[in-house]
Amino acid sequence: MQHHTVRPGLAALALSLSLTPTLASGQAPSLRTLASARGLLLGGAISGELFNTDNPDEAATVNREYNAVVAENAMKMRAIANSPDPGNYLFATADAMVASAQKNGQTVRGHTLVWHDSAPAWVYEIKEKAAMRAAMTQYITTVVKHFGDRINVWDVVNEAISDGPGNPLRNNNPFTVAGPDFIALAFRMAHAANPAARLYYNDYSVEGLNGKSDAMYALVKGLLADGVPIDGVGFQGHVDINFSVKDSGMQANLQRFRDLGLDVQLTEVDVQMVGNGSEKEKLARQAQVYGELLSTCLAVKCSAFMMWGVSDRTSWRAGGKPLIFDDGYAKKPAYGALLRVLQTARK
Ligand code: XIL
Repeated sequence: MQHHTVRPGLAALALSLSLTPTLASGQAPSLRTLASARGLLLGGAISGELFNTDNPDEAATVNREYNAVVAENAMKMRAIANSPDPGNYLFATADAMVASAQKNGQTVRGHTLVWHDSAPAWVYEIKEKAAMRAAMTQYITTVVKHFGDRINVWDVVNEAISDGPGNPLRNNNPFTVAGPDFIALAFRMAHAANPAARLYYNDYSVEGLNGKSDAMYALVKGLLADGVPIDGVGFQGHVDINFSVKDSGMQANLQRFRDLGLDVQLTEVDVQMVGNGSEKEKLARQAQVYGELLSTCLAVKCSAFMMWGVSDRTSWRAGGKPLIFDDGYAKKPAYGALLRVLQTARK
């Protein structure tokens, strides 16, 4: 059940390409222009800040630089399903984000259908296997059908693997009540609700070759062997300036997932500025890590490079100043690093 021939968001990319004005010579291109030219989704997480008229820089930056967006929180279960009753699902914020994306020629990544961290209280009250399967089926079906072909890329299951020894599946995940095949069930339900959507498993601390990425590799390989409709893997990419793309074995790691026939995306990149050193040194190191993350992504023909936010001001980890625009939305050295990689990396 793999449908790998069409790259995600191709129609939307073609649209955003045709909307891209011809650049006057000497004018710096945007990240989105360069990304679209190579068929790459490049963008980031958006929040209610997108609609804050007191901060027009947010929307201006998103729409100038991103050809793809993902809701930071608005499409999580806790945001949509405060109540188990689908008649009471809350879609207003998410729908406004999708409308904005459509207006601006941006592809939307759907994030995320099954995640322990965002499960509302009522989910924890379900103790019966059949009831949990019914609840998951109803939620996934309702949400995926609600967005329909407005969202054709979904993180179906997020962060199911634990950080503990041996990296088994989490034991603090309420959805495990549905049975050991709850991950397969989620993918099957999402596929049934939107057969055109490309479906991803997404996790953190799996960028390099390590025990957790080994566990993820075994997980998705098993899903493929069972005929589960999974199209790709999302590597979140929450790292800091001490992360070494080279030493972590990141390219080899991403490549082994590609070799399974899966698509690969970096889904939540941010690079925290930590440790000693001058601000200037940290900015330079951050730029280097951003550049290496993107070039590694391109080297394995990833289909998306998504960052977790827009500016340092509203980042979920604002203290670490992890993004490519500073508190005043000025371009940081990391922005230039991404631009250079897009301009020079082999297509
Ligand atoms: C984070 C948001 O950025 C926060 O605003 C929220 O309080 C918690 O979730 N992995 C994910 C994202 O998959 O959904 C998380 O987003 C960050 C870690």
